[in-house]
Amino acid sequence: MYEHLIKPLLFRLDAEDAHNLTFSGLKTVMSLPAGAAILGALAELEPDGKPVELFGLTFRNPIGLAAGMDKNAELLKAWAALGFGFVEVGTVTPRPQPGNPKPRMFRLPADTALINRLGFNNNGAAAMAKKLRHKPDRLVVGVNIGKNKDTPNETAVDDYLSCFEQLASLADYMVVNVSSPNTPGLRELQDKDALLQILSELQHRNYRRMRRVPLLLKIAPDLTAEQVDEVIEVVQRTALDGIVATNTTISRDGLKTPSSEVEALGAGGLSGAPLLNHANAVLQQVVKSGIPTIGVGGITDAASMRAKFAAGAKLVQVYSGYVYRGPALVGELQRALLSQ
Ligand SMILES: Cc1cc2nc3c(=O)[nH]c(=O)nc-3n(C[C@H](O)[C@H](O)[C@H](O)COP(=O)(O)O)c2cc1C
Repeated sequence: MYEHLIKPLLFRLDAEDAHNLTFSGLKTVMSLPAGAAILGALAELEPDGKPVELFGLTFRNPIGLAAGMDKNAELLKAWAALGFGFVEVGTVTPRPQPGNPKPRMFRLPADTALINRLGFNNNGAAAMAKKLRHKPDRLVVGVNIGKNKDTPNETAVDDYLSCFEQLASLADYMVVNVSSPNTPGLRELQDKDALLQILSELQHRNYRRMRRVPLLLKIAPDLTAEQVDEVIEVVQRTALDGIVATNTTISRDGLKTPSSEVEALGAGGLSGAPLLNHANAVLQQVVKSGIPTIGVGGITDAASMRAKFAAGAKLVQVYSGYVYRGPALVGELQRALLSQ
């Protein structure tokens, strides 16, 4: 239904307009008494067969929605109805911010890929806290936190602490995002000293809480092997619970879309099918260290999900694949899990 009827209409629109229209549609459907059942049918869901225990949490299935789709936690009940075992909301920043000028999100259909330079457009941590108070029970919700664009890197730690303080009691797990390519200088926070400062201060606060919240780090696929090793060392030293690998890439290698068209789209992070092998290489390196890892980047079907688990992911997330395949992707992934 999505691929044959809804997607052709949505793909005629600007990518971000299509995203916003889809959100309005999902809100309308969820306001109907049979809303959840309608979405379950669209997703062609199977009963969940294989729950996963990780970070002290129970995931009813290991298929998650990646950060950036629901930046403001607006559709939690819909994601549960669409069959996701978990959703990572955000990236949220302490203060609301508009993000980069539009257009800032593009499709590369020949590559089953997207390029975006949204730049953490979001309603801020206080607005997210209100939404998280209505979290459905059976959905694990992670909160992905970042810094405001106008906060210099020298004081970035304060932004992460602010988000943490406002949202930790409402989150099942939290993710420190230092890997988006669309906030100038953000990825420099993956450097050893900066990272150590941010993660140790967050963990310090975390350990003083009644309930310590599982804390993870999301990393870029563009780190060198040496840089990944340094990140692993910092994550181990600060006793983080896990790593999310990976964010979007700044590389444009190996695309089928003509390079002139790709260049015309401008800067941004590339996601979707072309990211799979690249993200899996980073994932494998992290997995070798024994750190529990959420695998994300390039899942568009059952085979690419299997490759992610074969690389050692404990849980997986999708974003671009969901844009291209729609709700039925979750049903397909569930069936692949059940037949393993
Ligand atoms: C339009 C768009 C917005 C995104 N926004 C965020 C974000 O705010 N925070 C974040 O950590 N990742 C963000 N991501 C990255 C995704 O969470 C994911 O890591 C990446 O897209 C790779 O997965 P995929 O190939 O399944 O899309 C975004 C991705 C896209 C396509």
